[in-house]
Amino acid sequence: MKKTVAIMVVAMLLIALATPLFAQGGKEDGKMTVGIAMPTQSSQRWIQDGNNMKDILESRGYAVDLQYAEDNIDAQVNQLENMIVKGVDCLVIASIDGESLTNVLEKAADADIPVIAYDRLIRNSPHVSYYATFDNYLVGVQQGGYIVDALDLESGAGPFNIEIFAGSPDDNNAYFFFNGAMDQLNPYIDNGQLVVRSGQTEFDRVATLRWDGATAQQRMDNIITANYISGQRVDAVLSPYDGISIGILSALKSAGYGTSSRPLPIVTGQDAELPSVKSILAGEQTHTVFKDTRVLAERAANMVDAVLQGKEAEVNDTTTYDNGVKVVPSYLCEPVSVDITNWEEALIDTGYYTADQLK
Ligand code: GAL
Repeated sequence: MKKTVAIMVVAMLLIALATPLFAQGGKEDGKMTVGIAMPTQSSQRWIQDGNNMKDILESRGYAVDLQYAEDNIDAQVNQLENMIVKGVDCLVIASIDGESLTNVLEKAADADIPVIAYDRLIRNSPHVSYYATFDNYLVGVQQGGYIVDALDLESGAGPFNIEIFAGSPDDNNAYFFFNGAMDQLNPYIDNGQLVVRSGQTEFDRVATLRWDGATAQQRMDNIITANYISGQRVDAVLSPYDGISIGILSALKSAGYGTSSRPLPIVTGQDAELPSVKSILAGEQTHTVFKDTRVLAERAANMVDAVLQGKEAEVNDTTTYDNGVKVVPSYLCEPVSVDITNWEEALIDTGYYTADQLK
């Protein structure tokens, strides 16, 4: 009898000791933890995104586990698996390959961990609660529309030579940017005011895996060598992203563009990354699209609050982002078209950059 009581006492003690350990899960000092998975630190925008998300979530009382996967899909999946095992309370994911997370999201769902898709849609999974992003189609409209305006195509000017670049085929956003831009440009390609000398206009032909600037530079080099041999000039380049724009500009400069007799063409971009804003100020890149990552982070943080409090998050789009399994309720923030005429108002007056950062 005494022995049984002793065993029971020991067992109860063990349970009492172990309970806080289990209950603690991923929590730090009793705080809830948010796991943030970002794609890469090779692009300045994702560093800003990560820092903004961390700051906002910490200021709202969460602990944050922020990880970057340097554009390696397996590394991102591993990071997510580790966060799930550690017992984070919510995941915020900017995917590298939007189609590779189906299994790991199944594991998150089994552990009751809600998932917010950040900037890039996660496809082929029912386990995405919300999507915080920008109006990605509008980004493309701003890029294509910029070229239409700059070349005065509406007044019938032309013909002009243009080359087309798109983003990474594993990123859902790339298709939205491309479609938005091409809806602006196609009427002028069809009527001959715009000429694509390379003939490369299909998404699969013009896509740039992992949004890589060096890949784009190589493709631009090849296009110039093959299609602009006897004095023809590139007048415009549709570029979907600043890192790609910088690669394209390098190829153009190597081919002798950037002098008064052979000025650089119009080159669009996206993200208002520092090297590109400096390039705009130096008269090289022409355009970018500013997406205020502070606003995006705020929206994503609101979604985190909502899912963890069992409330509905504010969304403004419930039709556009079908991920193959469901339409993910989304909040689309507004992008701003930026060039030499309004960079100060858009980027300095809003406090996004200091004047010193652009020196
Ligand atoms: C996209 C994003 C763009 C750009 C690009 C390359 O998903 O929406 O703003 O950052 O990735 O990083």
